[in-house]
Amino acid sequence: MSSLGEAALPGEAGPNDLDAAGEAALDQALRSAWMPVCQSGELTDRPLPIRLAGETLVVARLGDTVAAFPDLCVHRGTALSLGWVDPGTSPAPDGSPATGEACLVCPYHGWSYGQSGEVKRIPAVHGRAIPRRARIERYAATEHLGLVWVLLEPGPGGWEHPAPLYPLPEAPWWGDPSLRTIPITTYDWKCSPARRIENFIDFSHFPWVHEGILGDRAKPLSPDHVVESSETTISFQIALEEPQTSVKGDVAPGAKVQRDPTTYTVHLPYSVTLDQQLPEGNRFVLFMAASPLSSKETRTFTWNARSYRLDPSNDTELADFQRLILDQDQPITESQRPEALPVDLSAELHIAWPDQASIEFRRHLGKVAARARLTESASE
Ligand code: FES
Ligand SMILES: [Fe+2]
Repeated sequence: MSSLGEAALPGEAGPNDLDAAGEAALDQALRSAWMPVCQSGELTDRPLPIRLAGETLVVARLGDTVAAFPDLCVHRGTALSLGWVDPGTSPAPDGSPATGEACLVCPYHGWSYGQSGEVKRIPAVHGRAIPRRARIERYAATEHLGLVWVLLEPGPGGWEHPAPLYPLPEAPWWGDPSLRTIPITTYDWKCSPARRIENFIDFSHFPWVHEGILGDRAKPLSPDHVVESSETTISFQIALEEPQTSVKGDVAPGAKVQRDPTTYTVHLPYSVTLDQQLPEGNRFVLFMAASPLSSKETRTFTWNARSYRLDPSNDTELADFQRLILDQDQPITESQRPEALPVDLSAELHIAWPDQASIEFRRHLGKVAARARLTESASE
């Protein structure tokens, strides 16, 4: 067992950080971080099955809250996502009184789960006491930035005092009436969320993977920039030259233009905002939030906001532009091994300064993993 002072932090650490235990510790620790699971608009009056961190969950609107549970009825293991929501305002068909709260109803034998995960009705034994064990765990769920976010573990204070590792991402642009905000189609890649984030903040690949769209192989040099890091964010500004494109309101598509600095902000652990100032005071924002379906599969939710060409008929061109870029990134990112980011910085070769943001990102994740391993070994 080691003390915190001897903690093997990335870049300062022994070789053992790059191992399955380090990556598993990171995944385990991030169960206490909010993860996006669907767009708010996808969650209607029907329960929705989702995958998160290798588990199958069900999310449902119960009254005025969003609830997330394991997708597993405690009675016979049926998927609750096959059931429905009972508003709880009417008596049941057998005449038993209304539950008085919205419930998720299992489709097999009709057990009704309330917002806390307790069974409120067992139709086959109407009138008898409901066993205390007739309940399922309820995870924390909330809506933010048009997404549903779930917390799988509350932290040391338990569900009475949940303490997420990081706050939900700040987004001052959200709801700004001068911007048109649209979703970019959600997509799944066979990579870890950390690899997905690194790809998003890695600008030195633009000339190679996005030649003619975002970069130019004749000009591969990365501009100098400063990476700033806090306990919850990593940010930097970078001024790139890029081909003009109509989706950014440019007038001479294809011609090179030197952009003003674009601000990248990583909201730890797995969301990023790209905020780009364009000519004539125009603004282009891309917000992405990555979610681990499992340790090696990632779902990415994306919003795009723009202050120009506001007519909805321009949305398709913009979405197609993003699709083109993503289709180029996907095979590269999915080919990376190991699929998870090595928690030991020395495991891959980094080039200062183009890789500075990803070095900082790994430093953060490495600290989380190291702390989790210490906690684990202290409790053994
Ligand atoms: S399996 Fe769900 S009520 Fe029986
Ligand atoms: Fe890319």
